[in-house]
Amino acid sequence: MKISILLENSVATPRPLGLVAEHGLSILIEREGKKILFDTGQTGKVVQNAVLLGVDWREVEAIILSHGHYDHTGGLRAVLENIGRPVKVYAHPDLFSPHYYLASEDKAFYIGIPHQQRLLESLGAKFLWVREAREIFPGLWVSGEVPRKTPFEKVERGMVLRTETGFVQDEIRDDLSVFIQTEQGLLILLGCAHAGPVNIIEHAREVTGESRILGLIGGTHLVTADQERLKKTLEYFRSLDLKILAPNHCTGFALRSYLKDLFKESFRWGGGGEVFEVS
Ligand SMILES: [Fe+2]
Ligand SMILES: [Fe+2]
Repeated sequence: MKISILLENSVATPRPLGLVAEHGLSILIEREGKKILFDTGQTGKVVQNAVLLGVDWREVEAIILSHGHYDHTGGLRAVLENIGRPVKVYAHPDLFSPHYYLASEDKAFYIGIPHQQRLLESLGAKFLWVREAREIFPGLWVSGEVPRKTPFEKVERGMVLRTETGFVQDEIRDDLSVFIQTEQGLLILLGCAHAGPVNIIEHAREVTGESRILGLIGGTHLVTADQERLKKTLEYFRSLDLKILAPNHCTGFALRSYLKDLFKESFRWGGGGEVFEVS
């Protein structure tokens, strides 16, 4: 199995000339002859990055969207245009919910998906809604809605949903992750991990029946975590005996550097262009 970071907030070196970074995430899974795309970045720049990395878009068999935020779904239009035929898109039914970020009492930014469902369907998207954990290919699971069990993993204030009566706290129910069963345990791909990395990993163990965690790749959203949450999360990560820890995107650069020191040989930067070969 090959996992390629097609795009994220940084670019690994040395990589093909012209590879770009943006605030967003897109990962390609190549496994058992299938190419599956997890998230699409923010602006469509992932299309060119993938070409530079040798990806033929026509071979992408399915797309999984981690959640509705613009930095994971914004590239979907360009991706569909390049795939050029109908393609399954797995996502939570709340994908199109009105996600906002409340910067101050009177300043809210729309941070949801920047495309209409109808337009995406006209470009070939066949949405398949995943509310419960589902094995979409043998050994490859989409998490479904993740039960929020830990007391310390709360969605940050400021993430809100627009309702008819005003803004309410957004629990980002649409947050999905991918669990891949390997000979060495589970490889977990996170989008933004708004459900909390610990909640997500515990859910992965429960639905797959596999307790060994081989690795973690993707956004952890620990960039805004307070000290208590960070301490508990890192204690948990250390208990897992991870072989791969590639916390990128919304982990934040400062924390990524800190984790590099802490996890040493299992740490990988997970920048754009980086490839993980896993058996
Ligand atoms: Fe994100
Ligand atoms: Fe997000």
